[in-house]
Amino acid sequence: MASSRISTGIEGLDPLLQQGFLAAKSYVVTGDAGTGKTTACLQFLLNGLLKGEKAVYVTVDERPSDILDSAASLGWDLQKHIQDKSLVILDAAPYFSARAGAAKEREVDVQRIVTDLASHINRMEAKRLAIDPVGPLIKSDTPSGRSEEQARLLIRLLQTQLQTTNLLSSHSTGRREDEISSIEEFLASGVLALRMIRIGDRFVRTLWIKKMRGTAVEPTEYEFNIVKDKGIVLTSELPQPLEEALRPFQVMDGAALKDGPALKPAAAAAEPLRETLQPFELEKTPPDK
Ligand SMILES: Nc1ncnc2c1ncn2[C@@H]1O[C@H](COP(=O)(O)OP(=O)(O)OP(=O)(O)O)[C@@H](O)[C@H]1O
Ligand SMILES: [Mg+2]
Repeated sequence: MASSRISTGIEGLDPLLQQGFLAAKSYVVTGDAGTGKTTACLQFLLNGLLKGEKAVYVTVDERPSDILDSAASLGWDLQKHIQDKSLVILDAAPYFSARAGAAKEREVDVQRIVTDLASHINRMEAKRLAIDPVGPLIKSDTPSGRSEEQARLLIRLLQTQLQTTNLLSSHSTGRREDEISSIEEFLASGVLALRMIRIGDRFVRTLWIKKMRGTAVEPTEYEFNIVKDKGIVLTSELPQPLEEALRPFQVMDGAALKDGPALKPAAAAAEPLRETLQPFELEKTPPDK
């Protein structure tokens, strides 16, 4: 049976992936700070929305209003899709405020997340899901090994309990050669690695198809631009040789996240919620119509 392909929404990328992602699988877009992970997630969902599909976006590190602002700066009107209920933005903050309150709980309940997600996704019959970024949801403060279990459980549950095609963003250092792949990269069906590298006196954004199960891909790194109204647009293969990757931090991203209560500012420890994940509502605006 021929597998159906789901467009990535990234101009120039689908032809390199035999026309896109495999349906109902989970993919990772990984990269250092500011490399374009959120942009990639947004354009993946928008591609579906423009075809009349429904979508769910789970924001972990940013507030939903910030996501709306980022999208607007790229020329994308998410409010319209929230209003017509084709897009639900879920803020994962409550998972972290719950965790902060219970000292014994050192990790997020992955089963709970997927159950919550399934209820939204099934209700609206969403076809695409983005989780941006996935790391904090699977990170564990308990001795090593648990993060891996958490990641495995999450990817498995997404696969078995949801019919959506999923794009999960993930932090990485930006260095390709000496980078240790994160556990979610091993588990996902494919990985797109975004980097910013220096060529001469300029910085260039690049996308590398690091892994794509069931798909013949060229082991090439492509240059891209972020363009208003389109988001990430591949422009060309990167000329060889590659120069040193940009190294903005000395501290590993994961380590930075690990220590902290800082992980979640958690403005909203607020009122008890019926479901942990609640759709982001546009500012107390008016009933439909
Ligand atoms: N309207 C725009 N036009 C062109 N480039 C833009 C526009 N808006 C944002 N960008 C660029 O896109 C970059 C990537 O943003 P994005 O939020 O997708 O990165 P990210 O990898 O999700 O970052 P973070 O690690 O902070 O989550 C920004 O740093 C900015 O330079
Ligand atoms: Mg981001």
